[in-house]
Amino acid sequence: KTFRLAVIPGDGIGKEVIAAGLQVLDHIAEESGGRFAFEKDTFPWGCEYYLEHGKMMDEDGVEKMKGYDAIYFGAVGFPGVPDHVSLWGLRLAICQGLDQWANVRPIEFLPGVPRRLNHPDVDTLNWVLVRENSEGEYSGIGGRNFAGRGPGKEVAVQSALFTEHGCERIIRFAFELARTRKRKRVLSVTKSNAQQYGMVLWDEVFARVSKEYPDVEAEQGLVDAVAAHFVLRPEELEVVVASNLFADILSDLGSALAGSLGLAPSANLDPERKAPSMFESVHGSAPDIAGQGIANPIGSIASAAMMLSHLGLEEEAEQLNRAIAETTRQGIMTRDIGGTHDTAGVTEAIIRNLAAV
Ligand code: NAI
Ligand code: MG
Repeated sequence: KTFRLAVIPGDGIGKEVIAAGLQVLDHIAEESGGRFAFEKDTFPWGCEYYLEHGKMMDEDGVEKMKGYDAIYFGAVGFPGVPDHVSLWGLRLAICQGLDQWANVRPIEFLPGVPRRLNHPDVDTLNWVLVRENSEGEYSGIGGRNFAGRGPGKEVAVQSALFTEHGCERIIRFAFELARTRKRKRVLSVTKSNAQQYGMVLWDEVFARVSKEYPDVEAEQGLVDAVAAHFVLRPEELEVVVASNLFADILSDLGSALAGSLGLAPSANLDPERKAPSMFESVHGSAPDIAGQGIANPIGSIASAAMMLSHLGLEEEAEQLNRAIAETTRQGIMTRDIGGTHDTAGVTEAIIRNLAAV
């Protein structure tokens, strides 16, 4: 079988980590002995494209994605183009345009990686963040300069949109995911004491849906307390479901606690599979280290593993995850996690370890 992949490296280290991931995918396809192959089309969209063409992607870019089995994405954003322009013009345009409403972000505590979390059970932690990926605080509703106010008096409004349908499908997704995991526990995160409309709706839907999953332990928390919970009681967490903004913040916190932002993979899923899903590392384009060949490729390579699993190549996905863990266990790591290797060195080690795991 030939899988058609749309590849969007984007900006900064996005290009470097996607090249690393493709090298791994090519190797895996080669090793399959013709069982499967990847046919890849690369799209040069991003900030350079914007500076040349005045847009982050083609007008019909979202439409173009529809013919693919999956999208492999690097990162967007680079100095010279405002971040809200680049994010909305490419990543959010695709996620929302294709209704990839579930953003799944596992947090891996890999062997050999120095953690920033002091806890006796740190090696047994097994977290996954489930991020609502279609509405909430990223609904894009609002505007600037309301009521024509003059200089120094501007008013901006940014609204969060919560629909019962949107809340229900992501909460249900989190419960279904929890059922497949060891501890069978879901923590729902809001700030419904202060956000008294949308997040109260979310809480009510969570309470209702949780009744259908008596085998899953359900808990609710406020986002400020949950941030502390991540650090103080990490052993209690398993599946964490939160709104678009809160899960975005908590996933950076979680991956930093596990060692580095560079480790975290993610999948933007359309669980109904009406459209292709998109796989990307959690981190951004990291202009501070771009072009040096030192970016940690693990977030992006682990995202490729999530893509393999989504394409039905479950065995290959698990093997790739084992090869990543074996590589960090051997101490072959980039500088962000205390190693001395570069992007290419880590990538080659992962490929080498594929044969050993
Ligand atoms: P960032 O994630 O790009 O970088 C934050 C810090 O983590 C930096 O010090 C960076 O060097 C480090 N880092 C990130 N990934 C790393 C890796 N793989 N290996 C080693 N170190 C790594 O976030 P920042 O600096 O806030 O944003 C930079 C740009 O990326 C902005 O334009 C922002 O809008 C964009 N961005 C894009 C995202 C996406 O495409 N999904 C997500 C987050 C930010
Ligand atoms: Mg983020």
